[in-house]
Amino acid sequence: MDEGTSNEAWWKKAVIYQIYPRSFYDGNGDGVGDLRGILEKLSYLTDLGVDAIWLSPVFKSPMVDFGYDISDYCAIDPLFGTMGDFDAVLGAAHRHGLKVILDLVPNHTSSEHPWFLSSRASRTSEFRDWYIWHDPAPGGGPPNNWLSAFGGSGWEFDPTTRQYYYHTFLSCQPDLNWRNAKVREAIKDVMRFWFAKGVEGLRMDALWYLLKDERFRDNPPNPDYSVGEPPDHQLLPLYTTDLPEVHEAIADLRRVADAYDDRLLIGEIYLPPEKLVAYYGTNLEGVHLPFNFSLLETRWHARTLAALIDEYEGALPPGSWPNWVLGNHDRPRIASRVGPSQARVAAMLLLTLRGTPTLYNGDELGMPMAHIPADRVLDPLEVNVPGLGLGRDGARSPIPWSDSAYAGFSPSEPWCPLIEDWKSTNVAVLEKDPASMLTLHRKLLGLRKQYPALMSGSYLPLLATGDILLFRRKHGATSILVALNLGSQPGAIEVENCAGTALLSTYCDRADEYCGGRIDLRPHEGLMILELGTANHP
Ligand code: GLC
Repeated sequence: MDEGTSNEAWWKKAVIYQIYPRSFYDGNGDGVGDLRGILEKLSYLTDLGVDAIWLSPVFKSPMVDFGYDISDYCAIDPLFGTMGDFDAVLGAAHRHGLKVILDLVPNHTSSEHPWFLSSRASRTSEFRDWYIWHDPAPGGGPPNNWLSAFGGSGWEFDPTTRQYYYHTFLSCQPDLNWRNAKVREAIKDVMRFWFAKGVEGLRMDALWYLLKDERFRDNPPNPDYSVGEPPDHQLLPLYTTDLPEVHEAIADLRRVADAYDDRLLIGEIYLPPEKLVAYYGTNLEGVHLPFNFSLLETRWHARTLAALIDEYEGALPPGSWPNWVLGNHDRPRIASRVGPSQARVAAMLLLTLRGTPTLYNGDELGMPMAHIPADRVLDPLEVNVPGLGLGRDGARSPIPWSDSAYAGFSPSEPWCPLIEDWKSTNVAVLEKDPASMLTLHRKLLGLRKQYPALMSGSYLPLLATGDILLFRRKHGATSILVALNLGSQPGAIEVENCAGTALLSTYCDRADEYCGGRIDLRPHEGLMILELGTANHP
């Protein structure tokens, strides 16, 4: 709940924008987004008002898991361009005042990575122990019951050396052996390579999976599993995730970041708050920001949200800094989860909560999930585990830039279907509309910069009743009241000691309207009020 001080690290004041490079903008006309495309659109991002860009992986990869299967951590895949293109993006981003965060995948490589090619070639390879190899079970078959997050057993038999290797995700994504010091050193060298180039941060993929049980014990059955859930949820991942040893491995990576000025480590960790916050480290020697995905997973109800915010705020260790995520390339888009009108309220929530927000590209346009016909499914998760609604292609649809051919994304047919209403939901149309979702985002981001109360002020929960969620953000003498109507009916609320002027409604009107005592909200309306008694200027 703390109020921040002014000499804080850049990432405490920043809004992070996730770019899914395949889908952002196509600079070379082949139907796939790339680095040149990002370069051309940097001013769109500064106009939007974000401070840092996180690029999903652009490294050399067979692309079976769309770049999360890396075959060279220090090379750019030709699909995205060259190292020269990357350097151009980095340089231009810095000139635009944008920080750059890359996606490091330390848990696994591609099976085409030279480390794995050597590892699988013979039991005596110097790289053998870089991956997790095990003899078959005594009666034959996989060594234990561990499951892959992408369907089936986590073990793959390799006929050449007659052992199994472990893969948390696809069989072409073998897990590195983090109990091997050489693996750690190799990944630390990768970090140094990118930090030395001037990259300001790394988002570290699948961090809570890094270490696995040394004794290879079976995971216990999950008594709460029900049909329709992802198949790996049949077991509790007791021996494959969130092992105590993971924290020491992360602290080791943190020391690498700390050897450079002001670098940021973010961890991808899907765990409940009390376990998640352990990734800050006991003495804040873990990652700076363990991604907080609670808004991705929650039911969209005022009381549920209020409880979730309180639980998270309450769990944060002293001195740590919160963060919030509303969408990413792995989860259904917010506009489809809560509907287009409520997505505006969600945007106001994301950008007024205390902590660093991460905004997923396209959510600022209100993009819904794209419809993916059966013959266009590409996501290996949907291919392996069909029909459960896990498919991620729909959240990875190209950004619609205009209403010209292929939504101005590319002169060629894009790699993934466009959203259905791209003729009306696109950057060119929305930026002309003073009440569009894009305009709302620009205004929210502008206010966040303007008012320290929003950027670093304290968070004070006020009330969650029916569909209304109410909280204050305070900094010094400035106080901003945020009132959100999560429902489709009008709502009114009496707030003691509240009088002030509206800063912004999610309808993009009411600016400067006097608000006092009773606050009236239209259906799906969020309202920010600069309270009287507050210093007029931020
Ligand atoms: C992370 C990525 C996801 C990928 C998985 C395996 O969860 O966000 O896209 O499939 O790791 O690398």
